[in-house]
Amino acid sequence: MVVAPPKHFMAPSDAHEVAASMEVARHKLEEVRSPMASPGTPLEARVTDKFAFAFDIDGVLIRGGKVIPEALDAFKMLNGENGYGIKVPYIFVTNGGGKTEQERCLQLSRQLQIEVSPGQFICGHTPMREMAEKYHAVLVVGGEGEKCRQVAKGYGFEDVITPGDIIKDNSDTTPFRKLTEDEYKNSRSRNFNEVEIEAIFVFADSRDWASDQQIILDLLMSKNGHLGTRSENFDEGPPVFFSHNDVVWSTSHELTRIGMGALRVSLEAMYKAVTGKDLKTTAFGKPQIGTFQFATRLLQRWRKDTHGIDSPPDTVYFVGDTPESDIRGTNEFNKEAENSWYSILVRTGLFREGTTPRFSPRATVDNVLEAVKHGMTREYRNALRKAAIESSSAVESIEE
Ligand code: G3P
Ligand code: MG
Repeated sequence: MVVAPPKHFMAPSDAHEVAASMEVARHKLEEVRSPMASPGTPLEARVTDKFAFAFDIDGVLIRGGKVIPEALDAFKMLNGENGYGIKVPYIFVTNGGGKTEQERCLQLSRQLQIEVSPGQFICGHTPMREMAEKYHAVLVVGGEGEKCRQVAKGYGFEDVITPGDIIKDNSDTTPFRKLTEDEYKNSRSRNFNEVEIEAIFVFADSRDWASDQQIILDLLMSKNGHLGTRSENFDEGPPVFFSHNDVVWSTSHELTRIGMGALRVSLEAMYKAVTGKDLKTTAFGKPQIGTFQFATRLLQRWRKDTHGIDSPPDTVYFVGDTPESDIRGTNEFNKEAENSWYSILVRTGLFREGTTPRFSPRATVDNVLEAVKHGMTREYRNALRKAAIESSSAVESIEE
């Protein structure tokens, strides 16, 4: 016996078109559920190739040495604990420094309870490694104890001099600073008559502004970097490089604290007051475009080596707290980059309620977890929109 279906199910007879359009929609929905998933990887391990995140550290993930609590959930979400069934690649771009990339990554791994590799990390002084070929004897300023000497040596600088070496050689250099026993022991004895200091690098925040500035000033006013000499025209000193230019930063104090950019301003003003001349200095770090280009290359290598993804992401979400460095740099780089760089400002760092940031972010959110949710939701919505458009045009072409 043949049971005929009710009439309204039978007419009109376009069942194969409906089935085809449903198949298209099913495929599209699968793409949406996992918008950037690389083909061939198991469902639970799918890594999106469509977007990525880049994180500032101080004021976003860490404040005054302590983890900002929402950061832990933010990384869980990026590492697959989300409703989309994806993992999202990420890198870290901080202006901070003062220790080797390896050491900082180990510390971050402990703090954030995830594995952080130097392959996904840039700090303020990382790009300085490219200058090791150009300069042989350099003065390295800032940081704790001997750490920055070790960083510079690791970058390939052959002859690394610290302010401690100079004070050990001549304690009259800094009338109000005497080396501690440890500093004296670690500083190197040498004959500065034979040394030409070719460049000055401020790697990390100075622990003693007065004596560090005195030594930098002595060199800037010297004849070709020879300590104890004075140039007649103050035009023969070595160049000065700072690893970043953040005038203030966010740490454990509730109000902002002055940072390396403030030392730079102070040094330039002091040089002018003493010599009557303008001092030109160079700063690396954010918001320099070079740092974002460096970040692009790092992210490309990281995604390829770790996830086997060979194409650039359509969008990089940059999460930061400093409008002058993070937001400005991301917005400016967005204008020249091949893909989209989307700035997100968090309220956990320099942000002050009731003020307008000098550089406008694409989004402002309470904390890093909200930033991650914002980016992922935006991607999901965009993918849904795209899928809806594509499936409706697929249905139209079937109907034609
Ligand atoms: O000294 C570091 C500070 O100025 C900024 O670090 O991580 O916010 O770029 P970060
Ligand atoms: Mg910051």
